Amino acid sequence: MKIIDVLNGNNVSPPPIWLMRQAGRYLKDYREVRKQVSGFLDLCYTPQKAYDVTMQPIDLFGFDAAILFSDILVIPHALGVDVDFIEGKGPILSPFNAENLPEMRDIDIHDRLNPVYHAVSMIRQGLDKNKALFGFAGAPWTIASYMIEGGGSKDYRKLHSYSRLKTREFEQLLELIALKTADYLMMQIEYGADALMLFDSWAGVIADDVFDDFCIAPNKIIIDRINEKYPHIPLISFPKAIGARLPKFIEKTGCKAISLDHTQSLDFITANISKDIVIQGNLDPFLLYAGGQNMRDQIDVIINKLSDYPLIFNLGHGVDRATNPQHVHDLINHIRQ
Ligand code: CP3
Repeated sequence: MKIIDVLNGNNVSPPPIWLMRQAGRYLKDYREVRKQVSGFLDLCYTPQKAYDVTMQPIDLFGFDAAILFSDILVIPHALGVDVDFIEGKGPILSPFNAENLPEMRDIDIHDRLNPVYHAVSMIRQGLDKNKALFGFAGAPWTIASYMIEGGGSKDYRKLHSYSRLKTREFEQLLELIALKTADYLMMQIEYGADALMLFDSWAGVIADDVFDDFCIAPNKIIIDRINEKYPHIPLISFPKAIGARLPKFIEKTGCKAISLDHTQSLDFITANISKDIVIQGNLDPFLLYAGGQNMRDQIDVIINKLSDYPLIFNLGHGVDRATNPQHVHDLINHIRQ
């Protein structure tokens, strides 16, 4: 598997390619399957449907890796939180109550997550042997943000104030999420995931004085647990938009592969990040949306600037829902030409 070779530290040219949110609403075939279920979570928990939508972008574009079709919010759901996905509004979660923490600690998350494991196993069996299957989860800060805000947020006011005023409780929540998430990822490995990705999508809003406690420490709990039990399974960290804090994140968590968002300066990377670290990224998703020569030029810039690193080509964040699938063909043809 080309991607696993890169994740093991080898430079491969042209780089293997997959895209965050490569399955989803920009694909007509996805929208067809989505119509057949009432809630988005039904899609995640019906193994045959999760299999079908995982495979759609592989069949259409020939990516080098599949990513399990699921969502990071299945973890709060498995912890007993109500999670709803409302068209045009995004996810809505039932209000957070710290008194539920002891109860959450005792919950067996695998009860609700079993169908996800079955999907992993079906996908691994159906996927070409040369293509890797990524399992994934959200990092604790990002998951806690949805739990405390009750959904997405522009300002994260509740999250910031709770984490500052009830810091001990908040850190217990992060730890609980970290431990449950490590269990979840290990089951994904048991059922056939070849590699993992850990999304800390909102790490960029963490104030610097608490960055170690709220970002580094919880990511490290998960990374350590996976490395200890499954040292051969690569894990890509995605602490999005943390800018100049990236070298510290890598050094302190011990992560070996990092996904760069599109705001990250590549000159900063080459000057500050060791060439043994595997890099994934980092085309602006809206340059994919726009397409054309500007997109092709920036693809060349990324590949040239990062040529000394083991590189996996990806976006800096997920495919936008309004993206023309033809632009994805163009991206792949340009890289593989
Ligand atoms: O193809 C893939 O990448 C695999 C599937 C995947 C989804 N979500 C499917 C999805 C993955 C890896 C995720 C991760 C995820 N989910 C993240 C981390 C990555 C990132 O984008 O930063 C986050 C923050 C979430 C939370 C989430 N899930 C939000 C905010 C939303 C609503 C936004 C929207 O587009 O409506 C979701 C729903 C969701 N997850 C959809 C998909 C395809 C759209 C739901 C639908 O089809 O109705």
